[in-house]
This record gives sequence, structure tokens and C-alpha cells, in this order.
Amino acid sequence: MQISSNVLDLHSFNFYKMTVFTTRKEIFTFIKSAKINSKTIGYVPTMGALHQGHASLIKQSISENNITIISIFVNPTQFNNSSDLDKYPRNLESDTKLIKEINSNLVIFAPTANELYQGNITSKNYSFGGLEHEMEGKHRVGHFDGVATVLELFFSLITPKRAYFGEKDFQQLQIIKKLVTAYSIDVEVIGCKIHREHSGLAMSSRNEHLSINARKEAAFINRTLLEAKKQFGTKSALKVEEWVTKQFAKNNYFKLEYVAIANTETLKPVKRKSKKQKYRIFIAAFIDNVRLIDNIALN
Ligand code: PAJ
Repeated sequence: MQISSNVLDLHSFNFYKMTVFTTRKEIFTFIKSAKINSKTIGYVPTMGALHQGHASLIKQSISENNITIISIFVNPTQFNNSSDLDKYPRNLESDTKLIKEINSNLVIFAPTANELYQGNITSKNYSFGGLEHEMEGKHRVGHFDGVATVLELFFSLITPKRAYFGEKDFQQLQIIKKLVTAYSIDVEVIGCKIHREHSGLAMSSRNEHLSINARKEAAFINRTLLEAKKQFGTKSALKVEEWVTKQFAKNNYFKLEYVAIANTETLKPVKRKSKKQKYRIFIAAFIDNVRLIDNIALN
């Protein structure tokens, strides 16, 4: 691994294999060189603590672009709870190891908060036509303003052709699609399937905080979602949500924060089902004081 202290051009990038840039100037110069050489850039934004879910996004970007850039940045402006920010796992060394195992010829951009935000670590205020007020928006006030602020910064520096996001954070994915349209940001936003453990538990950096037992119990979320999907064939959205709420109430390990069956595009709760519309079911729940989210398509 080459942690760059000075600016590298594309030629030296190929020579050094994996490169970690930490400054805006370095990434800017690298991108300029890549563009001169007509390379297409795929971008995978992350907050590190990488797992196979992130790896699946990186692999898709590698298969569709000449160059893949992965940002590793725990974004302070998207945390509405400072202990959650402090607790967030950080390990650049194991992250670079995981990336190297996928492909040794990748670029990591891992700036400090001051470097990225140029000393002004605050969120802008956005409006996403109501998408931001549903589900996560209700429970993590200001979260999506922080996400959009940091992505606007990254998009403007990296200017990728394509950017990859997981359906694991489905609401985030829809909001980013809205962001790039509303702000005419020239990037194709690509949604990628949720990568799961064998048990069905959606992979997440937060799973690291679970005890072995809690990690086993956490598969309950996906089992419940799958059963809800079966029921959605014959029951109303409300009835299915009530059933899910009951299952969580009976489970001693979990505290349910919300369950919502929503329209895939608007993320609004379903009033009356229509065959023409697509729906998903979303859950946020705590186990071992760790907040987990998951969702699946219902039709
Ligand atoms: P982070 O939680 O690190 O996730 C980075 C990307 O990986 C997101 O697009 C997320 O949806 C995707 N991802 C996480 N777990 C996944 C899984 N099990 N299967 C498929 N994709 C998965 O999301 C963020 O970071 C931040 O909000 C960020 C977009 C980087 C902005 O700071």
C-alpha cells in the first residue's frame, strides 16, 4: 500500500498499485490525470469498517469502470448523536487490507474532516420533496442533510461517471437520486442489492458491535421481513405492519423503532395497495443497544 504524501500522476499510480490519498489536492490532481487519459471513474462512498456488502459495490464498480475510487470517511455531519459518532468503528488498516484482497489497483480517498470540509464542518439544508421526512428522517433528524452535504463535496471533487450505493440504505439511495437530479450533478447513481450473512442478517458495519448471541438473534429481522412479504400477498399493509409489531413485542432481544410499508418511489406509507405500484417494507430496531435497519421488496 502506498500512502501518498505528495501528488501522484496516473503513471505512478499504476506503478504503486493501491494508493491512499488524504488531501483534496492529491485527489484533484489524480482525477485530472485520469480524465486526460479518458478513464471512466466509478465511485463507492463509504464510512469504512468495510465488509462484504461494501465489497460487492466495489466489485460492481470495477466491472463497469476503468478506475474505482473508494472514499473512507466517517462523516460527522450525518450523526445526530455524538456517542454514535464516537462509537463508529474506524480501522483504515483492515479496510485497506479488504480492498487489496478485491483488487490491488484501487484508489482510496480518506481525508480528515477538516481537510474535506475546509474547516467548516456543517450541513447544508436540503429539501427532497418529502423523501427526507419519512422513516429514517423522522428518527435521525438532520441525518440526510449531512449525507447530502458530504456527497455533494465528494461528487464535486471526484466527478465520477457512476456512483454505487446499497439498497441496504434504500431511503438514502432514493434521496441521492433526487439530489443529483435537483442539483444537475452529472453522475449515474446505481443501486446495488443487499448483501446478507448466511443467516439472512444484512451485513452492516454496526454488526461488529453485536455479541455472538445477538448476532445470531439478529437474523430475526430478515425472517420477519420474509414472512411479512408472504402475508402482503393477501393482507393489507396495516395488518402486516401490526403483525410485525407483535412479533417484535414478543421478542425479548429487540426493541422495534419502526416498521413501515411504503411506496418505493415516494417512500410514503401505503394507504391502499395498487398492482401498478411497487412497495417495500422497512424496519429499524435495536438489539444490544445497536441500531439495525433492513428492508425488502414486497412485489
Ligand atoms: P456506509 O454505511 O459505510 O455504507 C456505504 C455504502 O455501502 C452505502 O451505499 C450502503 O448502502 C452500502 N452497504 C452497506 N451495507 C450493505 C450491504 N449489506 N449490502 C449492500 N450494500 C451495503 O452509507 C454510508 O456509509 C454513508 O451514509 C455515505 C453514503 C458513505 C455518506 O457518508
